[in-house]
Amino acid sequence: MDFNLSEEQLMIQQAARDFAQNELLPEVIERDRDQKFPVEQVKKMGEMGLLGMMVDPKYGGAGMDSVSYVLAMEEIAKIDASAAVVMSVNNSLVCAGLEKFASEEQKVKYLTPLASGKVIGAFALSEPEAGSDATSQKTTAEDKGDYYLLNGIKNWITNGGTATYYIVIAQTDPEKKHKGINAFIVERGWEGFEIGTKEDKLGIRGSDTHSLIFNNVKIPKENRIGEDGFGFNFAMAVLNGGRIGIASQALGIAAGAYELALKYAKTRKAFKTEIINHQAIAFKLADMATQITAARMLCFKAACEKDAGKDISESGAMAKLYASQVAMDTTIEAVQIHGGYGYVKEYHVERLMRDAKITQIYEGTSEIQKIVISRSIAK
Ligand code: CAA
Repeated sequence: MDFNLSEEQLMIQQAARDFAQNELLPEVIERDRDQKFPVEQVKKMGEMGLLGMMVDPKYGGAGMDSVSYVLAMEEIAKIDASAAVVMSVNNSLVCAGLEKFASEEQKVKYLTPLASGKVIGAFALSEPEAGSDATSQKTTAEDKGDYYLLNGIKNWITNGGTATYYIVIAQTDPEKKHKGINAFIVERGWEGFEIGTKEDKLGIRGSDTHSLIFNNVKIPKENRIGEDGFGFNFAMAVLNGGRIGIASQALGIAAGAYELALKYAKTRKAFKTEIINHQAIAFKLADMATQITAARMLCFKAACEKDAGKDISESGAMAKLYASQVAMDTTIEAVQIHGGYGYVKEYHVERLMRDAKITQIYEGTSEIQKIVISRSIAK
């Protein structure tokens, strides 16, 4: 692992930082308050290549490496964790899954507009009664010869209300358990496909999270991804990479809160001196800086392993497990350092604290990450 960032990586980091400051920061408080999706900002992120960062340019992507992705995600999430999850899902769950496993026809038709940011995608695995236990899903796709008939409900789907294309995981043969699951590309607007309720969330309120309802939706056979029965392994493989995205989002949330707390501690005075001169505050900042650096290293490690083509189930899970804990701890302390100001919206840290919590839940809870890690180290 090389700790020296290349000129190109530094340029991407700077471009994402400038974009976040200039385009995301101005109305981030209002979007959080009103649960407003950053429509224009996401469009610009697409134009900058941030929505298909690692995809081959021949399919509309930016052709960058995964370390660049971690760097850009961190900068976006520092300012707006909602925009960051839109970016993470489109890059890691949707584009990466299609680039690695879809047919050439599927790549041309679906990956190209998704990677170039012309449209965005969603990944529908979770259900009302199947979150962590992903094999227990109830959504069915019945093989009808030249099409599948899709029925069921998916829950908590990021980009659910704004996506154009959806990767939907469904049971095709319940008797075969996880080998009877398939992944399909479903288009918004197909008959019988209804966008359900929008969730009113604690955090990442600028992102849009919906249930999806499928009522006899006909999916053409050619929209199945991979061989029959590959859907569960597809979902697991895609989630391994997704966890690097969410780890980087968590890292950004933590780093954003830390930077605000550090700045505040250097200017706010109490007992005749800036509060950073009180060891009670200085030690909190020292812990934050150390933990954020460690979280960043875990993200870089997983990203480097991904680019080297290694199995990233363990490193991705470690990065997400640790970075999401750091995001939670750091944001709570950042609110504490800000005192009363930390509890009001205009100082941003209360929002970051609310945003942090979901990073311990989605794309595999912290408990699921420990299952993945412990199984890996026991092998
Ligand atoms: N990487 C690759 N393959 C994996 C894997 C991993 N991390 N974990 C399991 N698999 C494979 C196994 O090798 C096995 O394959 P074979 O039979 O072909 O060898 C198959 O999957 C079944 O494995 P298990 O028997 O271990 O399956 P399990 O039922 O015990 O479940 C689990 C394993 C790790 C708990 C899995 O169910 C899991 O990851 N659950 C969490 C699901 C999740 O992350 N949901 C998030 C929803 S998506 C989301 O949040 C998106 C959003 O909008 C932000």
